[in-house]
Amino acid sequence: MGVREDDLEVAVDVRRSDGVALKELTAARLRGAPDRVVLEGWGRGSESIVWDFNALYWSALELWEKATGRGYEQALPGGESDARNRVAARELIDGLFAVWDRLSASGALPEELYVVELGVGNGGQAKVFLDEFVERDRAHGRGYYRRLHYLMCDYSPHVLGLARQTVAEHIAHVSSFALDATRPRTSLGFLQYKAFLVYVSNVYDNLPTDEVAQLGGRTYCVQTRAYLPAEQAAELAGSVGASTEDLPALVHKLLRLGPALLPDAAPAHFADVGSAVDFWRRAWSALRLEERYVPLLGLDTYLLVPADDLAGQMPLTGELLRPLLESGADLRMHVSGGALASFVDSLTLLHPFGTLVCHDLFVTDVEAYRTHFRGPGKYDGSVVNWVNGPLLAHVGRRRGFDVHYERFRHRSGGNIVTMTAQVRD
Ligand SMILES: C[S@@+](CC[C@H](N)C(=O)[O-])C[C@H]1O[C@@H](n2cnc3c(N)ncnc32)[C@H](O)[C@@H]1O
Repeated sequence: MGVREDDLEVAVDVRRSDGVALKELTAARLRGAPDRVVLEGWGRGSESIVWDFNALYWSALELWEKATGRGYEQALPGGESDARNRVAARELIDGLFAVWDRLSASGALPEELYVVELGVGNGGQAKVFLDEFVERDRAHGRGYYRRLHYLMCDYSPHVLGLARQTVAEHIAHVSSFALDATRPRTSLGFLQYKAFLVYVSNVYDNLPTDEVAQLGGRTYCVQTRAYLPAEQAAELAGSVGASTEDLPALVHKLLRLGPALLPDAAPAHFADVGSAVDFWRRAWSALRLEERYVPLLGLDTYLLVPADDLAGQMPLTGELLRPLLESGADLRMHVSGGALASFVDSLTLLHPFGTLVCHDLFVTDVEAYRTHFRGPGKYDGSVVNWVNGPLLAHVGRRRGFDVHYERFRHRSGGNIVTMTAQVRD
């Protein structure tokens, strides 16, 4: 719209173009955009409906898993969560015991010993931790299990229900909270400075994120919008007796109501829950993201975490990105806003001798963004993006924490990295 032709620029993500006939593909794109059914307007990646799909996946997990015959863990790297690793859990527990012994010796150990887990999934991680805790406590002989409170948190009530069943033997020591992991303090404010461990695994990579690009000294926001390619859109619409023009409204209805209620809301298209689940899976499988680069006018105007989400603290702005964006050659990287919000909020829960431990897909050196594509991608019905580790470390250090990354030690191969954050001595 009124843009001069020489103002247009075509960006090619060469990190994803191995084996692709770039010249032909670019020429085809320039001849005109292929037909597609657009599902939303342009916006920051963190605002896309892919996050509604992600939330729906976790809230209606049972229906999805029934339809695929496969549990969500099978889609995780290595086919199971590293949070189930017993040796890693034991090491973590021994570290806690060492801190508690020291505090106890000086009479400073509180009666209640709090551990918070964010994003509990099926509860496998909680169970391993609690089982190992009982074993280690028996050997250690200080009666810490009696004082332990394990707080399981997730935004999906379904998932929390599953996790509660998994840890049934420990239920006297477990409470569950339905909360958004990006704002744990909304429900856990009472825990401020009291948690000895905030434990997170494979969750930060599942939280909303933006991307920015630094090209030739200018900074751009990578805006996205979700669409369905024409051919798949026609098949999908045909499968539910709709036209392709009806698809955006049907998809939005699905995201608002979920597959269980869709047959009641749109009986002409969905005879039963099974057909609604089928529509959901096919729509998600076909969904793609278009991108465009929009200049960012001043990093300080770009809100990464608004003050509202930080209970009165200063908002986190794009200024935090400057050292990373200006670290060398052109760069495109994630701005892991959801992970960042969760991280800074969780730090306020930590006891002065507490630790945040997070196993996840972290980029630990911005250089990796120059050479590799790091998402967005799909894990079954959910979204995955690697997390910008240097950004979280930079923010954590400014808040007085030591932030440390280490490849997950208890499995050879694999991409999982463990982040540890503790108050600086
Ligand atoms: C990949 S699973 C990881 C489960 C478990 N921690 C593990 O490692 O096996 C991600 C979990 O995070 C939860 N989750 C995702 N986004 C969330 C959010 N914004 N708030 C709370 N929980 C969230 C999902 O419901 C799901 O239980």
